Amino acid sequence: METKWIKPTEIEEGVRLLQAGEIIAIPTETVYGLAGDAMNDVAIRKIFEAKGRPSDNPLIVHVASVEQTKQFVDTIPSVAKRLMDAFWPGALTIILPSNGRASSLVTAGLDSIGLRMPNHPAALDLIRASGLGLAAPSANRSGRPSPTSAKHVADDLTGRIAGIVDGGPTGIGVESTVIDCTGETATILRPGGVTKEAIEAVIGPVALDANLSDETAAPRSPGMKYTHYAPTAPVFLVNGGRDALVQVIEERQAAGKRVGALVFDETTTPAEVTYSLGTSMEEAAKRLYDALRRFDETDVEEIYVNQIEPKGVALAVYNRLYKAAGGKIVHPTEKA
Ligand code: TXA
Ligand code: MG
Repeated sequence: METKWIKPTEIEEGVRLLQAGEIIAIPTETVYGLAGDAMNDVAIRKIFEAKGRPSDNPLIVHVASVEQTKQFVDTIPSVAKRLMDAFWPGALTIILPSNGRASSLVTAGLDSIGLRMPNHPAALDLIRASGLGLAAPSANRSGRPSPTSAKHVADDLTGRIAGIVDGGPTGIGVESTVIDCTGETATILRPGGVTKEAIEAVIGPVALDANLSDETAAPRSPGMKYTHYAPTAPVFLVNGGRDALVQVIEERQAAGKRVGALVFDETTTPAEVTYSLGTSMEEAAKRLYDALRRFDETDVEEIYVNQIEPKGVALAVYNRLYKAAGGKIVHPTEKA
């Protein structure tokens, strides 16, 4: 299949493809999404196939207004309404009871559905002009780091999708926060672009899904159970500060390994390849997936990164690094 390159100023072509049941990658403020008509089984099946995504992992649906959620849910609980008013358009996906009108493939057979209004002009234009709710998971091959540029999408999906709307690099760089509003207490299933602290300032205390702090707990968000965001070389979190990181790097080099490092400042390390994630957590979120992807263009055999304190924006960054590491944490041996 030819994958068309579409300018964000020429969305008529994108609208035509979406209405014809084709799938195209679109920019959002978090990461690129792979979009298709949420009510069209044929389109949704194409999304799962192009990504190689397990069919038990539901997709989120993108809308252009609170009003448009009526296509997919019958009632909006007041907590959810307050979240929409405060954070939409924005990086918050809200799980609500589904009215069953979306393709059952979108919801993976669940009776709930995830909805989000993205804060990106091209995405909003496409949704409005097509009149469709757009199911859109991140536009990467399943398991790979999410795409934060049109090039990342092309690297993973050229030939597998009908088009790519090139909106340049994305702003936030990690996916939306997913919050479940179907139960008594609103629960964060996936940390993301909107912080827990910001949410609590609007609706009061929220829960974190048990799986986010206890690896043995089963995640309620199906997507969270898969290894994710991983470059080819294994990633390890290093417990401790910079000295611990340098110590581990030197030990692995002494063992004959070519080593990569990710750092949260602009300094270098003894590693063969060091990528900086910038000097703030916002910057780290923005650069993370590109850095993970760039290691695949090097010959490093192992990648090391410091553990960070998981609060605020760093909760999402830590969660993605933890997933990329498959939970592997190195505790350097004390030096005499
Ligand atoms: O920022 C984002 O959220 C991006 C952009 C493109 O909008 N999209 C994205 O989609 O990250 P995806 O499919 O890669 O991640 C959606 C997550 C998955 O972990 C999925 O399991 C979860 O949301 N999810 C979707 N519907 C759900 C539901 N009804 N109940 C629980 N979890 C759900
Ligand atoms: Mg994803």
